[in-house]
Amino acid sequence: MTSLNTLIGNVELKNPVLLASGTCGVAGREFTPYFHLSELGGIVSKSLGIKPWVGNPTPRVVEVPGCGLLNSIGLQNPGVEHFVNNELPFLKEQKATFIVNVVGESLDEYIQVVDYLKNYSGFSAIELNLSCPNVDGGLDFSQDPKKAFNVVSKIKKISKVPVWAKLSPNITDITEIAKACVDAGIDGLVLINTVLGLAINKWTKKPTLPRAVGGYSGSAIKPIALRMIWQTYKKFPKVPIIGIGGIHNTDDALEFLLCGASCIQVGTANFANPKASIEIIAGLKDYCEKNKLSSISEIIGQAHEIDSKTLVGSKV
Ligand SMILES: Cc1cc2nc3c(=O)[nH]c(=O)nc-3n(C[C@H](O)[C@H](O)[C@H](O)COP(=O)(O)O)c2cc1C
Repeated sequence: MTSLNTLIGNVELKNPVLLASGTCGVAGREFTPYFHLSELGGIVSKSLGIKPWVGNPTPRVVEVPGCGLLNSIGLQNPGVEHFVNNELPFLKEQKATFIVNVVGESLDEYIQVVDYLKNYSGFSAIELNLSCPNVDGGLDFSQDPKKAFNVVSKIKKISKVPVWAKLSPNITDITEIAKACVDAGIDGLVLINTVLGLAINKWTKKPTLPRAVGGYSGSAIKPIALRMIWQTYKKFPKVPIIGIGGIHNTDDALEFLLCGASCIQVGTANFANPKASIEIIAGLKDYCEKNKLSSISEIIGQAHEIDSKTLVGSKV
């Protein structure tokens, strides 16, 4: 009998597949026609602020055919109070494993959201979005190690549940920010958010998105995500990594697990195929059975073992 269970610190997930923040509505409700939410390893909410955010002007999305999506949603969200009153009861009823993604325009706002959530239960962890490219200052917390340390250590002091930090790939050395989070006591590192990108409208002769620069996601960013997970796992092999970036199918998910992610999130793929996550869960089960693995966790980080056996000291 194969187990797909995976542990992120002390958070136990029934399988390693979650829906990514911002790609499943506020809290996954839109996916109920396709499968039961309790079948997933987990669902991550849209980033939630202390107040509702209106988001950016339109257009907010540009398709990059075959490669992915450029977005500039600007963190439109109904705010944490609305979430607690309208979505949390539904998620509890669904028996879904749930992670609340938190955002703030300042350190104080992050603290206010987590402080508000302290009074409620029904979610397993908090994911701090330290890395939104679509709002002013949105990347500050994951480009400056001191700011990252500060926000994580303050949130760790008040949160009743484990805290994960979602980091930006828009930085030279991801491990510097990862280290700041680890030093501050982070329980999981979520790698990666979107990559900065831009599109030009040939008719208006201007950038297509109103803020010009947007966040690029989908298949094309998979190698970037894998590289950052590789580097981070090498330095912090004991810190759980939640892998994300361009995952569309079981093979993609396997690459992330082998690279060192303890679980994965499905993002842009949800828009084209809302059943992508469920298909990946079935594919992982099949893979474990065919390879006679008793647990999917046996393969986490295995690519590093091969690396040390075949590459170190090799003449190649
Ligand atoms: C339309 C859209 C909205 C997103 N909104 C959020 C968000 O609110 N909070 C967040 O942390 N990440 C957000 N993301 C980033 C995704 O969760 C994910 O990190 C990124 O898209 C890379 O994964 P993917 O290539 O599988 O999509 C958003 C992505 C997209 C495409």
